[in-house]
Amino acid sequence: MGIAILTSGGDCAGMNPAIKQFVDYCYIKGIQPYLIYDGLEGLIDGNIKKATHSDVAGILHQGGTVLRSSRSKRFFEYSYRKQAYENLTKYEINKLIILGGDGSFRALKQFYHDFGVKFIGIPATIDNDIFGTDYCLGVDTALNIIRNSTDAIRDTSASFRRGCVIETMGRDCGYLALISALTCGAEVCVIPELEIDLNSLTKKLKNQILLGRQYIVVIVAEGTKKTQQLVDWLENDVGIETRATILGHVQRGGNPTVYDRLMAVEFITFAVDKIFEIDSHEGLIIVHKNGRFSFETIDYINSSTYTIKQNLLDIAQNMIK
Ligand code: F6P
Repeated sequence: MGIAILTSGGDCAGMNPAIKQFVDYCYIKGIQPYLIYDGLEGLIDGNIKKATHSDVAGILHQGGTVLRSSRSKRFFEYSYRKQAYENLTKYEINKLIILGGDGSFRALKQFYHDFGVKFIGIPATIDNDIFGTDYCLGVDTALNIIRNSTDAIRDTSASFRRGCVIETMGRDCGYLALISALTCGAEVCVIPELEIDLNSLTKKLKNQILLGRQYIVVIVAEGTKKTQQLVDWLENDVGIETRATILGHVQRGGNPTVYDRLMAVEFITFAVDKIFEIDSHEGLIIVHKNGRFSFETIDYINSSTYTIKQNLLDIAQNMIK
C-alpha cells in the first residue's frame, strides 16, 4: 500500500520543498509515494499519479505548489467523498499526508470517519493561525515578503513626507501584521487581538510631526477591516497625506526562505517516519512547539483558537496608543 500527498486550501511557500522531500524520502524508505493534484478536488476527480523523482526535480526553490490547490465545496458531500475513496482504492493508497490549514484537516477527519483512511496533517498557511503549533509552513517567507514591501513603501513615504497604511493578510489572525510591525519599525499596528486608542495615537503622532517626524508607517491586519478608516484618520485627524497598500496575494508567493525549506524537510521527514505508527488514531497533526516536533489530535487543534504570545502583544503596546 502507498502513501499520497496533497496540498489544500491557501498555498504557501514551503509546499514545494515538502513535496520534493516526500517523494525522495519515501523512496529512500522503500515506500511507494503518490501525488494527488488539485487538492481535495483532485482527490474526487482522480488526479492521482505514482510519483517519480523527475516529478519533483527542480521545484525545491519555487513558491506555490506544483500539485496545485483548491478549496473544495464538493468534498462536503458524501457522494463525492465516496468517489474520492474509490480513486484511492484503485491506486492502493491507504494513507494521506495533507499540507494545509484546519479546514482541510477537518475535511480529512470526516473522510476517515466515512472510510477509515488515516492521515497526517502538516500545518501550512501564511496566517499562522492554527491552535497547538507555534509555526505553520510558509509564514517566514510571507513575513520576508511583507518586510521587503514595507521597506520599499517606507522609502517612498519618506520622500513624500507621507503616511502609509499597509494591509497584510492573515484572515482573523493578526500574527503577520504584528510581527511585521515589530520588525519593520511601524509607528502603529492594528490587529484584531489588540484594541487601539486613536485619540492617544493622534496626540502622539501630531506631536512627533511637530518635532520633525517625516512619515508614518501603519501596518494593519486584513481581519480588522480598518484599512480605509486608518487612511482617513491619518489624513483628517493626524494631518498627513496618506496612501494605502493592500499587499494581497504577493504574500502567498515567492521562493521559500531557508527557514521554510528546512521546516518543510523536517515536517515531512517526521510525517513519513511516523505515519505507519499512528494506528490508534484517525489522523494526527504535526505541531512544532518550543522547537520540537510532536503530534496533536485534530480535536485538540480544533478545541481552541491560536493566540499570539503575550510577550509580543506586550511589546506592541507602544504601537496602539
Ligand atoms: O489563508 C490564507 C489566505 O491567504 C488568507 O490570509 C486570506 O484571507 C485568504 O487566504 C485569501 O484567500 P483566496 O486566495 O481564496 O482569496
